[in-house]
Amino acid sequence: MSAATRPAAGAEVLAGLDVERVREEFPILGQTVHGKPLVYLDNAASAQKPRQVIEAETAVYESYYSNIHRGVHSLSMRSTDAYEAAREKVRAFIGAAHCREIVFTRGTTESINLVASSYGRAHVGKDDEVLITGLEHHSNIVPWQMLCEEKGARLRVVPLDDRGDVILEEMERLIGPRTKLVAFGHVSNALGTVNPAKRMVEMAHAKGVPVLIDGAQAVPHLAVDVRALDCDFYAFSSHKLYGPSGVGVLYGKTAHLQAMPPYQGGGDMILSVTFEKTTYNELPYKFEAGTPNIAGVIGLGAALDFVEGLGRDKVARYEHDLLEYGTRRLLEVPGVRLIGTAREKASVLSFVLEGVHPHDIGTVLDYEGVAVRTGHHCAQPVMERYCVPATARASLAVYNTRQEIDVLVAALGKVREVFL
Ligand SMILES: Cc1ncc(COP(=O)(O)O)c(C=O)c1O
Repeated sequence: MSAATRPAAGAEVLAGLDVERVREEFPILGQTVHGKPLVYLDNAASAQKPRQVIEAETAVYESYYSNIHRGVHSLSMRSTDAYEAAREKVRAFIGAAHCREIVFTRGTTESINLVASSYGRAHVGKDDEVLITGLEHHSNIVPWQMLCEEKGARLRVVPLDDRGDVILEEMERLIGPRTKLVAFGHVSNALGTVNPAKRMVEMAHAKGVPVLIDGAQAVPHLAVDVRALDCDFYAFSSHKLYGPSGVGVLYGKTAHLQAMPPYQGGGDMILSVTFEKTTYNELPYKFEAGTPNIAGVIGLGAALDFVEGLGRDKVARYEHDLLEYGTRRLLEVPGVRLIGTAREKASVLSFVLEGVHPHDIGTVLDYEGVAVRTGHHCAQPVMERYCVPATARASLAVYNTRQEIDVLVAALGKVREVFL
């Protein structure tokens, strides 16, 4: 990073994390946009990649790339070993019991679709119910809607309170004898709400209902332990966790995965094929049809090494401090209203500025070098619940700084000058 683009002093060593050194690991952050140092605050959409990840992917293609699982030659064996080593890293990262419980997919969306198609089709019937919450990303709504439509089942939704917390008493009431699955986001991408996931799993399990957790926004910010949560399924994406895009994870308890039919048919998911009958491969390969994103999975492994190297508790404390600072500073801007003030939040500052459309906010901020997301954030029902068509969303990662929040706040001053 050049001195010109480095955030000014005030250098943060907070929560034991030297953010300047962290930033140096991310080549992309050292650039200017419209002549201003880039302030990247769109991490909930996708996080930037550290050198470790970029180099791991490059190394695959430069020195040992080959298809996996099927070759006896050296490159294939090296690729296979690296791919399976990444699976073990994922297992350890989320505290799963066995590697067979870790299925690689294209992302959270595909992981949820896998469960809806395979587990859902086998367990949800006419007049049954699937329960989600009002906080969900479209990826945790539409697959269940499609399933319910196909089966004549009903999608039910736990309402939210005015702050952005799920109303747990309502959840308790809505889990009934017809509920076949509960699916909820661990952390909301639109509001930043951190759900009391363990408690919610216990509520569902108390009535014998399995639970899928959409962890897309949780794994980058919280230490997640699927065994402590005791969830049945947990889905997340690599690209929000400093890893490559096009890779995701589905964790599933062995008993569920074993009983579930395959999601897609093809290569690698079979033991033997004749025209009369196919026998399926063992877990997790039964759910990994076709050639996967080999370099991407290996890159995800490098991303997990990167996060573990920083220390997940340190990351969580650092980001929490930044979120509190950002909340305070944003509320100093006249006309700013935060959408989402849940009891516990992670990473997300969703806001509106009275009298200015979020897209206009985003455009002016871009001219100041500040990247935020504006729109409905693939969570239209959340926008509807809080009676806003869209919000501007600044979302934090471990490389963001207080000084960058100050730049955001100053840039919002420019927005006010232009539009108000
Ligand atoms: C909470 C949540 N769930 C699911 C997704 C979908 O993730 P992907 O597009 O990586 O499949 C996102 C992405 O923004 C998200 O924030």
